[in-house]
Amino acid sequence: MSHAVPVIAIDGPSGAGKGTVARRVAAALGFHTLDSGALYRLVGLSALRDQVALTDEPALVQLTLALQLRFDQSPTGAQRIWLDEQDVTEAVRSEAAGLRASQVAALPSVRAALVTRQRACAVVPGLVADGRDMGSMIFPNAALKIFLTASTEERAQRRLAQLQAQTTPADLATVTADIVRRDHQDATRAVAPLRPWPDAVQIDTTGVPVDAVVARVLQLAVDRGIPTSRG
Ligand code: C5P
Repeated sequence: MSHAVPVIAIDGPSGAGKGTVARRVAAALGFHTLDSGALYRLVGLSALRDQVALTDEPALVQLTLALQLRFDQSPTGAQRIWLDEQDVTEAVRSEAAGLRASQVAALPSVRAALVTRQRACAVVPGLVADGRDMGSMIFPNAALKIFLTASTEERAQRRLAQLQAQTTPADLATVTADIVRRDHQDATRAVAPLRPWPDAVQIDTTGVPVDAVVARVLQLAVDRGIPTSRG
């Protein structure tokens, strides 16, 4: 049985292009988006702000349940993220926030504290959710599950370009090391480890233009009978 509201789950390692593909697919279908990685990043950021240790699981759960978040989407598709009415868009995207996110994401009770918030995003006309466990733990009955991958080199190049676009100083060696470290942390954790699910369609995006990846996902959505705004 699938969700009454169609959900497209896009999982994969960092830098595989999940966020870009998710936003483009959602825009084409007129669906909502859920950037679940941003939630873990925000927990890490808020812990830093409130001086909560990343090992203090009970305090992190309290903080997670109390997060006051707002995601604004401009007509151009640019997203701004607000934490307690403070604009944290750039801070959330930093490499440090990514590594901190990966640490808090390994804590089962923090993951559990985010489940309801994530599932609440599945509202009409539909949702495109990206992360590590969208197709497994959060939306196991998603109408379409995608697992995006790309070579480590290409993922590092994309991350570097993103950081440079937001004028964050970065170099390829450091970004590559961060990606490898985060992949390892995400793939070896006990709870919701990063891995392709048997019922997910795997797409390797190495050397594939984003337009082609988006077209492939949209075709798969049509094949699965997902109602699209294009009819
Ligand atoms: O996708 P993004 O790079 O923003 O995610 C940051 C971190 O949050 C990941 O490295 C991963 O540890 C964690 N995460 C997760 N489950 C998700 C989304 C992100 O564990 N659904």
